Amino acid sequence: MRRPVAHTNVPLLKYAIREIVDVMQYLLEIDPSYVFVRENIGDPIAKGWPVPLFLKQILKEEIYREGDHVFGYCHSRGIPEVRKWIVEYAKRFSPSSTLDYEYVLLTNGLGAAISSLYHMLRPGTRVLQPAPSYPSHSSMEAFAAGADPLFYNLDPKKGWEPDLDHMESQIRRHPEIAGILVINPNNPTGAVYSRRVLSEILRLAEKYQLMILSDEIYFRMVYHGLQHEQLTEMAVGKVPLILMRGTSKDVPWPGARSGWIEFHNVEVDRDYRDYCEAVKKRVLLEVCATSLPQTVISKIYDHPEYESWIRLYSAGLARNIDTIAEILSSTKGLHTNRPDGAFYMMPTFEEGALNSRQTLPIKNSAVRAYIEQQVAQEGMPSDKRFAYYLLAATGICVVPASGFFGPVPGFRITTLERDENILKDTYTRLSRAVTDYLKSS
Ligand SMILES: Cc1ncc(COP(=O)(O)O)c(C=O)c1O
Repeated sequence: MRRPVAHTNVPLLKYAIREIVDVMQYLLEIDPSYVFVRENIGDPIAKGWPVPLFLKQILKEEIYREGDHVFGYCHSRGIPEVRKWIVEYAKRFSPSSTLDYEYVLLTNGLGAAISSLYHMLRPGTRVLQPAPSYPSHSSMEAFAAGADPLFYNLDPKKGWEPDLDHMESQIRRHPEIAGILVINPNNPTGAVYSRRVLSEILRLAEKYQLMILSDEIYFRMVYHGLQHEQLTEMAVGKVPLILMRGTSKDVPWPGARSGWIEFHNVEVDRDYRDYCEAVKKRVLLEVCATSLPQTVISKIYDHPEYESWIRLYSAGLARNIDTIAEILSSTKGLHTNRPDGAFYMMPTFEEGALNSRQTLPIKNSAVRAYIEQQVAQEGMPSDKRFAYYLLAATGICVVPASGFFGPVPGFRITTLERDENILKDTYTRLSRAVTDYLKSS
């Protein structure tokens, strides 16, 4: 008889953003009249944001270029000229950077980068994750480690700033921690970290000789007059720093599956260099990352229209954030921060606001029976319960904060909706649903 084949660490893989899609699918099967407002996935294209026209023109030229090179494989670590351009791009933001193009790796989106980074850690070595987390990081890290993720809390009462005391206590309690993950601007909270916060994280990394892994996929998307503080510039020559950036959000071109890893400060220690080499080797085994997007990365970001495009796109996203924050901040029982970056927001429920008797009216009796059965499951988190009722009663799909290992109950929404009327209607209905749910028992 065949022995069991599925990996024993599978229960550690959690991706609530997509899990709720199955619930939507099931509701549609019961009642095809559902019209869902999908606030679960951060895909600007799905929300109607156009890719800039110049990108399409660049692609057309590249596709028809003689030689058809873009249809073939390319260098396994990424086209050398593109890696050299990435070094130059990094230096635009961090002039003191000593990044070498041999320490840049192109990957199939940051998803692949994340997986490679955690899989090449020595068994037993951990990377401390933020809570709420971005599940690709926390699940991949946990899967590679074969144990639950280790977290430091982000504090909703302080604009979702990292709780540095908690971070330090976790580092002291778990000597197996060799790195800290920072996501800035943050998914799922939309928070943008100040220079003070980053300096403190850097200080802890130096004190405990840790690496910093910095996911900066949203670094061009900072609003309200703030700027993205460059950790690379602050960390030069001090700590092992691994940066992750990509084209999914700020172009936006998520379907390109194109991202990259920058290993900064490789000169600081030998062990860190060994780890960089290990990740390089792992990437080698994947043959190469998608060729076409790589060939156009520099042409996109260097295009004369890119800066005006990112300004326009950012201004639209900042407007959405302001509108949503205004509607939700007046909702009793809910605590809402106004994010300064990315395109997410995570309102939280006030302590004691939720209980296991609250409901929302669901017209279709079969749907109601299904939701009642789902929420009756043992260990059902209180915010997931709310998210299920919200979905079934209004069609608005949010992801519960518990799905991100959030320290307090809440939910994550995206701030991508392009149509102002739909945006206002969605969040007015959401606000009303929160009020009705909280009042229901
Ligand atoms: C913080 C963060 N990192 C990485 C990713 C994945 O990016 P990619 O599309 O490059 O795989 C996302 C996608 O939402 C994200 O929010």
